[in-house]
Amino acid sequence: MKPRKPVSVIILAAGQGTRMRSKLVKVLHAVGGRAMVLYPVDLALAIAKDPHRIAVVMGHQAERVKEIVSGADVCTVVQTRRLGTGHAVAQAQTVFQGRRGNEWRKQRFLVLSGDTPLLTEATVRDMLALHERQEAAITVLTAHLDRPAGYGRVVRGGQGYVSRIVEDRDATPDERRLTEINAGTYVIEGDFLFPALTDLKPTNVQKEFYLTDIVSAAVRQGKAVAAYLADNPVEVMGINTRRELAEAERLVRARIRGRLMAQGVTFLAPETSFVDADVTIGQDTIIHPHTTLEGHTKIGEDCVIRSHTRIVDSVLGQGVAILDGCVIEGSRLDERCTIGPFAHLRPGTIIRRAAKVGNFVELKKADLGVGSKANHLTYLGDATIGTRVNIGAGTITCNYDGAHKHHTVIGDEVFVGSDVSFVAPVRIGKGVVIGAGSVVTEDVPAGALIVGRARQVVKPGWVKSRREKAKGGKH
Ligand code: UD1
Ligand code: CA
Repeated sequence: MKPRKPVSVIILAAGQGTRMRSKLVKVLHAVGGRAMVLYPVDLALAIAKDPHRIAVVMGHQAERVKEIVSGADVCTVVQTRRLGTGHAVAQAQTVFQGRRGNEWRKQRFLVLSGDTPLLTEATVRDMLALHERQEAAITVLTAHLDRPAGYGRVVRGGQGYVSRIVEDRDATPDERRLTEINAGTYVIEGDFLFPALTDLKPTNVQKEFYLTDIVSAAVRQGKAVAAYLADNPVEVMGINTRRELAEAERLVRARIRGRLMAQGVTFLAPETSFVDADVTIGQDTIIHPHTTLEGHTKIGEDCVIRSHTRIVDSVLGQGVAILDGCVIEGSRLDERCTIGPFAHLRPGTIIRRAAKVGNFVELKKADLGVGSKANHLTYLGDATIGTRVNIGAGTITCNYDGAHKHHTVIGDEVFVGSDVSFVAPVRIGKGVVIGAGSVVTEDVPAGALIVGRARQVVKPGWVKSRREKAKGGKH
């Protein structure tokens, strides 16, 4: 068998997506918590392996698109005027010139659309295999849809061979009744592709250079055109409107949960939990109804996430319990700690092993030591708290003086009574005991007891004597 040709990938992402009615370019709209364009980028990386074999064609808001795809290190080119999908592909030619200027002749191209996030690697691999078997110049991904409106239709000739693709807007009423659609995904031989693009004519309703016209060009040149019919029509879904975006969102979220369940995660009401594509969850973790897990969150094994909780870009160790109604952002929670109900952990927070954060507690850039507890009505900001510290109900770090933020340091095994204010910057030594209601303004050495509040005044019999004085006054 002759060695396979290397596959390069061109991703079309220059269009604005007018039908979205958005200020944001279509391919940057999020599906499953990440920009739509990243789905074909991931697929391209899986197929081509080398990011330098991948070109993303950008146009509208190119700078923003470039920023999003830059993490993958792929090549980008700008299509300055949006003259159609054929024109867009032609812009990528420069990326594949190589040293001799015509490297593209020896390559095989996979063309992906930036607006088709549900396409799977398995389908693309099958399609590449079919292309190879049939020694085709071009292989088109197609699907039968119950509602094909809006898509280009695949027109087949007498013996069932693909003869051309006609756009919905250019189609005759008979052609519009065809249910086999063009998914906008192609495998094309480089030596056929780029010369064919130079021959395109914008003789259609939209006056654009259609990539789809190279199908009939191949047929005219006597080249083999193959069609790979997708088993699952859902995969080919292109997103052009907000309705389609919502539908893709639903499907991608279901896929993510399906994958996690296959990995051993329990969802009590899967359709009510929203998990972003990049979230990972360990085995035997239980996700209760109405939960949202976002960004690059990583959750360990044997955790429980109760209802109405939102976790963003956070890392949870093993056996962590998040009770109802918590918001957790940019935080690290070590094994066996318990959070909530109704706690807010803001960015920069670290909760160490077996520590507890309870009802109506807010933390920001705070490090709560191993086994320490802040169980009720507390704010800890810009604070470092040692191990086995008890933070009494209603305790607050006064970290902001109106101009600057200051730090509070609380040593190991400190006992903080209820309703204590730490006026930062302030440092509390190991094992200190702080009386309830104290306002702590000065550093405290290890082992001390401090009570920093107004002394209680008791006047025995005061109420009765006031009443008598009042009576006397009336006579
Ligand atoms: C295209 C196909 C259609 C197919 C459908 C599948 C053509 C002419 N039509 O139609 O047969 O059924 O996809 O989803 O190819 N783009 C550019 N530059 C341009 C124009 C478009 O980069 O000048 C990009 C868009 O950003 C988008 C992709 O190409 O990611 C497809 O463009 P779009 O306008 O959505 O094409 P459709 O009308 O959906
Ligand atoms: Ca489209």
